[in-house]
Order: sequence, then structure tokens, then C-alpha cells
Amino acid sequence: MQVFERAEELSAFIKKQKDQNLKVGFVPTMGALHEGHLSLVKHSLSENDITIVSIFVNPTQFNNADDLARYPRVPEADLKLLESIATDVVFLPSEKEIYPHGAQSASIDLNGLDHYMEGRFRPGHFQGVVTVVKRLFEIVKPTRAYFGEKDYQQLLIIRYMTRLYNIDTEIISHRIERGPTGLALSSRNELMPDADKDRARDIYAILNWSRDHFREYSPASLQSAVKDRFENTPLELEYALVCNPQTLAPVEEWDENTGARLFIAAYMGKVRLIDNVSLF
Ligand code: PAJ
Repeated sequence: MQVFERAEELSAFIKKQKDQNLKVGFVPTMGALHEGHLSLVKHSLSENDITIVSIFVNPTQFNNADDLARYPRVPEADLKLLESIATDVVFLPSEKEIYPHGAQSASIDLNGLDHYMEGRFRPGHFQGVVTVVKRLFEIVKPTRAYFGEKDYQQLLIIRYMTRLYNIDTEIISHRIERGPTGLALSSRNELMPDADKDRARDIYAILNWSRDHFREYSPASLQSAVKDRFENTPLELEYALVCNPQTLAPVEEWDENTGARLFIAAYMGKVRLIDNVSLF
């Protein structure tokens, strides 16, 4: 496994691979890797000649300084995990390498995709995500890049961004990987004591209940029913929204042609968790 810290060196290395017609898969991450990340990496390893994983805790996508400071950083453990699944290349850049002119977000019109959910509750978050992913794509120029449906809104926004800038990278989505209780794997789970991790299983239970019962409700009344269910859990719900899976706009009525997805953000103690499910 090769580790690069310099963007220029990585770009030169990748150019050589692409000159030989090799397919380059890319998995951007912020580290504190878990099985969710690793399954993205394995997905890439199975479809490409060479797989690059980046680890960079991107300051511009944190709208809360405390959240950035508390974000787990364990580069040595991450490298071991990546080595254990035969990752080809890891990119571990410094902030200066990514933002030579200072860490600042671009201001990009995301066609309304950032008006809802995470975009609303975390102002500036997606501008930061798009800025860093665009920069990483410029360095890596991947054939394919892999994103998890756990961050479904991010996945759609990255897809939109690649079309907007004519970036020649195929965006591949990957299903949500879950732990034994159904809790979606997340680096933030490590900020919770075990008892809280166990209590957070209610999120998955409520998503499953919604998928099984949504036809008994309108989209709006399903949202209310989900809110009521959260009242009986130790979690504090921030939002429960039924959205169009392409535009993320709120769904007014069930429509067989567009489908619908339910999105949840909830706090377990101080830790903010997100999850979602395709209803149909
Ligand atoms: P991070 O939260 O580290 O996630 C990296 C990738 O792993 C994302 O595509 C995310 O959706 C995926 N992922 C995380 N948990 C997952 C799970 N349980 N199942 C499936 N996929 C999962 O998302 C980011 O980093 C950053 O915003 C980034 C794109 C790297 C830009 O800084």
C-alpha cells in the first residue's frame, strides 16, 4: 500500500496508471474508518484496477467548531484497516495541500438540492463538501468514485456537481451498511457510550416500521406518526421528512413513478445521527 501526502505526487502517480489505461476507483473519507467505509473500498477494489482512498477531515464542511474539534482522528488505525483489505493507495493530505490559498468554500448553485434537510440544518455544509470533493477529483481524476447512501443528499449533490462541471467520473452509490442492531455505521457512533449506541437502534426500527406501514398514511401524516414514535425513544428527533428521491423536494402525495424516501436526523445525547430508507 502506498501512502501519499502531496497532491502533486499523487496526481503524477495516477497519471501514469491512467496512461496505461487502468481504471482508477476513488473513495473519499474523513477517516475514523469502519465497515461502512471499508465496504465502499471493497466495492471499488472489485470494479477498478487501482483504488485510492483519501482521509481528510475537511474543515469547510463543519458548521460547528465543536463538532470539528470532536471529530475522531485515528490515522494509524485507519491505515492498518486499509492495508488489511489490500487498498492500493491512501492519500493523507495536510490542510495546506488541499487549500493552498486558505480553507474557504466556493459558492456553487446546487439547483435546490441543498435547500432541504442537512442543507437547512447545517448551513454551508454542502458548499464545503462540494468544494473539497471537487478539489480531490481534480487531484485524483478518478474513473469512478464511491459514495454511501447513508449520506444520500451528499450523493445526489456530488452527482449534480460532476454534471455541472463536466467531470468525467462515474458516481457509484453504495447501500447503507449497518451494525448488528441495525444502527447505520458512522464515525460519530464512536462518540457514544455503548449504552447509547444500543438505544440508537430505535432509528432503524422506526425506519423499518415506516417502510412497512407508509401506505396507511399520507406523506405528511407519516411524518407526524414518525415524530410520535420518536417521543417514546431516548432520541431527540430533529427532522423526519418524506422526499422525492431525485430532487429531494417534499413529497405531497405518493406517486408510483417518483417513489419516496424517508430521511431522519436525531440526537442521541450530544451525537447527531442521520439515516434514511427507500419507502418504494
Ligand atoms: P465520511 O463521513 O468519512 O464518509 C465517507 C463515505 O463513506 C461517504 O460516501 C459516506 O456516505 C460513506 N459511508 C459512511 N457510513 C456509511 C455506511 N454506514 N454505509 C455506507 N456508506 C457509508 O462523507 C464524508 O466522509 C465527507 O463528506 C467527504 C465526502 C469525504 C467529503 O469530505
